[in-house]
Amino acid sequence: MTTIAENWGVHEAQFWLRGEFPADPVGFEPATGAWNVYGHAEALKTLSDPKVFSSDTARLIPKEVSPAKDQFVEGNLLQMDPPDHKKLRTLVSHAFTPKVVADLEPRIAALTNELLDAVDGADSMELVTHLAYPLPVIVIAELLGIPASDRDLFKEWVDTLLRNSQQRSLTKQTEADKKAAEETQEQLNNLVGYLGEHVDDRRKNPREDLLTKLVEAEVDGVKLTQNEVVNFANVLLLAGHITTTMLLGNTVLCLDSHPDEYRRVREDRSLLPATIEESLRFLSPFALVARATTTEVELGGQTIPADSMVFTWVAAANRDPRTFTDPGVFDPARAHNPHLAFGRGIHFCIGAPLARLEGKTALNILLDRFPDLRTDPAVPPSFIPSPHMTGVNELQLLLKP
Ligand code: HEM
Repeated sequence: MTTIAENWGVHEAQFWLRGEFPADPVGFEPATGAWNVYGHAEALKTLSDPKVFSSDTARLIPKEVSPAKDQFVEGNLLQMDPPDHKKLRTLVSHAFTPKVVADLEPRIAALTNELLDAVDGADSMELVTHLAYPLPVIVIAELLGIPASDRDLFKEWVDTLLRNSQQRSLTKQTEADKKAAEETQEQLNNLVGYLGEHVDDRRKNPREDLLTKLVEAEVDGVKLTQNEVVNFANVLLLAGHITTTMLLGNTVLCLDSHPDEYRRVREDRSLLPATIEESLRFLSPFALVARATTTEVELGGQTIPADSMVFTWVAAANRDPRTFTDPGVFDPARAHNPHLAFGRGIHFCIGAPLARLEGKTALNILLDRFPDLRTDPAVPPSFIPSPHMTGVNELQLLLKP
């Protein structure tokens, strides 16, 4: 059977998109030296037990291919465990509040309209270039308080980071791995240096922006250090770049290939939030999250030794037939959708409300302005060429009947 995903040309390692699911939900992969977790129940265990499944994975990555600790790990919530994680998450939550996000709605709508004005009257548009890339980047840059006009610079740095984020072996490193690690380090230096200058400025000249809020945030007399502010801003900038871009592109693609669901949501926009959740399950932007075991542990009938790298493939778990009825069917009306696209537990995505708001606002406007919107059959969509991500790179759309 040829699946829709095969026609789209997603990464061949993403077997779950071909309707396959392994007999063993957990397994060791000698080529990478890591354990893979594919099952939903097993993924929930790795995400919900930070004592056994630590987020401090950097300690298992060989020194010669990992970035400098103070430049990515410190202040990077994603790599922290309790109690430090809780302290930092509480502090940043004081700056990145639900109100801060909700207040962005009119600006997100205005930006979407501005970006779409550029293609008004055109026969076609490329979704990523015209909307899905610039919108989230401008939103996160404005939120942080850094000039959105510098976005070509961020794009260059982030593209290199993405290109080099392929899954590599933990046991042997090639010359290509080392070169990629050097490039990654250079681009991180650029990002960290750039953000550091802006943070320094906010200490002297506070403004109404998130960088200032992060500099000033205080819980029980404790403030964030310089490295923590810079690295948290860096994580937001990176996360703000790629994730919502993928969400927007993937949702348009899902709707375009499911005409009944497309018609329903065009006619009843209250279906949009559930459609976005189903898109997140069906094509999960971040396919995997990593953990490091602190002790030997039994999982899915396997014994994982202490100090093992564990890759939890949330994108596969989101297609686990033991949890989801007809997992290969795109069904925004499914009664139960406990997808893991935003993770679970203490590391649950802090940007989820922003991603959902951007998705809902931008898609609503896109559907309003282009009622005949559909993919161009002459130009197949292309995907980010990484097994770790599922997101369109290029999506050519026809705008007129
Ligand atoms: C955490 C996915 C959007 C910032 C996570 C995690 C996932 C994820 C799976 C958990 C990682 C783990 O458990 O190790 C996504 C997806 C998005 C999205 C699929 C969009 C569709 C965003 C946005 C931002 C953001 C827009 C920022 C503006 C973060 C941060 C964390 C995180 C800071 C770390 C939270 C913690 O460790 O406590 N995200 N994300 N994400 N995300 Fe997102």
